[in-house]
Amino acid sequence: MPNTFSSVEEQNQTMQRYYVLQSQIYDLTRWSFLFGRKQVVRQLPLDPSQAHKILEVGCGTGYNLRLLAKRFPKAQLTGLDVSEHMVNKAARTTQAYAQRVSLEERPYTLGDTRRHKQMDAILFSYSLTMINPQWAALLQQAYADLKPGGYVAVVDFYDSRFPWFKQHMGNNHVRMDSHLSPVLEETFDTVQHQVKPAYGGVWHYFLYVGQKV
Ligand SMILES: C[S@@+](CC[C@H](N)C(=O)[O-])C[C@H]1O[C@@H](n2cnc3c(N)ncnc32)[C@H](O)[C@@H]1O
Repeated sequence: MPNTFSSVEEQNQTMQRYYVLQSQIYDLTRWSFLFGRKQVVRQLPLDPSQAHKILEVGCGTGYNLRLLAKRFPKAQLTGLDVSEHMVNKAARTTQAYAQRVSLEERPYTLGDTRRHKQMDAILFSYSLTMINPQWAALLQQAYADLKPGGYVAVVDFYDSRFPWFKQHMGNNHVRMDSHLSPVLEETFDTVQHQVKPAYGGVWHYFLYVGQKV
């Protein structure tokens, strides 16, 4: 399997190392290629007047948590990330919303049923393509952590017809071969699924919203 680690432990440790440096340049650089993040937050079909519980898995520097806090002013938000350096950045980004945002420095783990029960929505933004080999197991965990009727929202890389680009992304721990969509569609009731070109089709990214029924 391309761009996958031999164990969950190796994946976690690699992410922790990779983001020591990347956390310093993340917000300066990622706007130019992590497309669709604002859109996926806008497309979450939740009522902003309600006190929803929303989890972001792999929250990074807190970019989406801040968007979520603005769009859902009564929501309780949890951001979870395996990288200490990213969580530290997220704490700064979400400082103005600290009463409604809790941050957890740890990996999202299959079988951890204690913490995130009954979520109204779970967001994976450019995290699942880096979570290899355990991404499919974590989608099952997300299903378990959602309440009936809750939503999963995903924005991530989809694919590229250029082998050199996929190789480049692989060197940065991203698996990019349209592997997420079929499993999302099998697991959830699809509300929407869009595939969009970036830079005239150098790669495609996708937005997915699904519901637990
Ligand atoms: C490309 S960044 C995306 C950050 C943020 N969601 C965004 O859209 O800007 C991927 C994030 O996923 C985190 N991550 C990777 N594997 C993880 C895991 N197993 N559990 C939790 N977070 C993980 C990384 O530490 C990193 O912060």
